[in-house]
Amino acid sequence: MNNANNKFYEFGSFDKFGNLNSSYFVMMNIFIIIITYLISVAIFNYKHFSFDIGNIINNYITYFKNVYYFSDSYGLLKYLIVDYKYFILSLIFVVLYVYNVFNAKLEQRKLANFGLEDYYLYKKLKNGVIYKILPSAIMDYEKFTKQFENILQRNNKGSCEISRVDKTSIKIIYKNKIPTIEQLKDYKIQDYLKKDKLFLGFEGGLIKNIEPIYIDFKDLPHSFALLGTSGGGKSNSLNHILFSIFYNFNNVYELNFIDFKGGVESEPYNRLEQKYKTNKINTYTTSRFELYKKLVKLDIINKARQQYLKDKGLKKFKTNFIYVFFDEIAEIMDYTPFDKVEKEQHNRTKEIIESLFRTGRSQGFKLFFATQIFTTIGSGISNSIKTNTIFRILHKTESDEGIHSVIDKEPLEERGINPKTFGVGEVVIKNENLYYHCRSLYVPDDFINYIQLPKTKIDVDFENEINKYINIILKEYKLNDLTKDDLFPNLKT
Ligand SMILES: Nc1ncnc2c1ncn2[C@@H]1O[C@H](COP(=O)(O)OP(=O)(O)OP(=O)(O)O)[C@@H](O)[C@H]1O
Ligand SMILES: [Mg+2]
Repeated sequence: MNNANNKFYEFGSFDKFGNLNSSYFVMMNIFIIIITYLISVAIFNYKHFSFDIGNIINNYITYFKNVYYFSDSYGLLKYLIVDYKYFILSLIFVVLYVYNVFNAKLEQRKLANFGLEDYYLYKKLKNGVIYKILPSAIMDYEKFTKQFENILQRNNKGSCEISRVDKTSIKIIYKNKIPTIEQLKDYKIQDYLKKDKLFLGFEGGLIKNIEPIYIDFKDLPHSFALLGTSGGGKSNSLNHILFSIFYNFNNVYELNFIDFKGGVESEPYNRLEQKYKTNKINTYTTSRFELYKKLVKLDIINKARQQYLKDKGLKKFKTNFIYVFFDEIAEIMDYTPFDKVEKEQHNRTKEIIESLFRTGRSQGFKLFFATQIFTTIGSGISNSIKTNTIFRILHKTESDEGIHSVIDKEPLEERGINPKTFGVGEVVIKNENLYYHCRSLYVPDDFINYIQLPKTKIDVDFENEINKYINIILKEYKLNDLTKDDLFPNLKT
């Protein structure tokens, strides 16, 4: 064994493969016994000891001379029985030493079994550990994360966050396992809603087993994607998110649900509007012309709001958000039109959707879409939309390619998250450079019964202001086959 490395392994009690260095181990124990014995003698006889260096040895000699039964044939045994107090300290230290060595040795053996013998435990943290690499070795971070994930699986631990501290050390933070559907079965979303916060679901916390996760609305971007295979829970997650939005309904200017996959998912929101008559909730499920009209309208509003911000010297909208939800966006983007007229409308629809993703941020647009794939082919999502989608919620996904088109390989491996093995409702969320691994709650079919909306208050001043800008935009805007009254029937010029 390389001597320079001894200090990492309880001063050489074992080697980097976790094998005990037995002669060293025995010597260490004897050494501990002798030293602690001598100290005990001095402590128990402190009255007869004077602690100056020249005298200490004399003190011991006098002491041993006075232990009269040392000269008997059974003297030593007698001594141990009568004066066992001198060995209590030895016993404590030997047990501590043996315990430490065996723990550390087993830890090292675990690493070595997975080919990570060049790493050693440097420091234990409250909820994790730091490993360092031997000075003589070079870190292969990818290998470490892969092998460490195997260790976790073997030991049936929950997930963890692995991160590189510097060139020589790696930090591991352990988390509890993500809660199961069974564990969450009695949890209800309505009990976890908070003002100004988006409730995402539950993670296996650092200390508690089940911990709710929230993000401040003000920390949310303008664009959100829900991705994953059919049945992974995308529509459920969307409804889950909407609970928080409805709970913070005062900041909502309007909500638009676009669901051309039969309209089943958006039907509850129709009923919610019928119940509360907010004039803020719209659904689009069959008529592509209606959708086209709506998007032209949103395009004009986007431009009007741009002008409004500029004239008022404001940076962005902090309320009056316009939400647009596309459940299965491929049904819109990847649609083949019938005829020339429809084709033109379809192209314009797509252009405006792209433009909203690109430019809608400051004007208070919040755009959500669910899709099974995140590549242009099959989903119709352009690269521009993809790069402008900041907040990504990934459900179960079968292929590496599909996974890594949404979230890079490294952050997932570092955290030991594998979306191929996800259960229903289990997600990994990426918001800029923050990651969350959690499970959303099941949203029952009758969920709108648990939603309560406040009475709509119209901000007349804001409406009048913004209408002024809409009129300005309309002067220049090419409406083509549409008229002003189609779009803004109540707008006064
Ligand atoms: N967090 C969850 N806990 C328990 N069950 C869930 C959860 N999320 C979704 N489910 C159930 O899983 C099934 C599929 O969910 P959902 O319809 O949301 O999937 P999807 O990804 O939208 O599928 P598709 O692509 O076919 O629209 C539903 O029956 C739903 O009730
Ligand atoms: Mg769905």
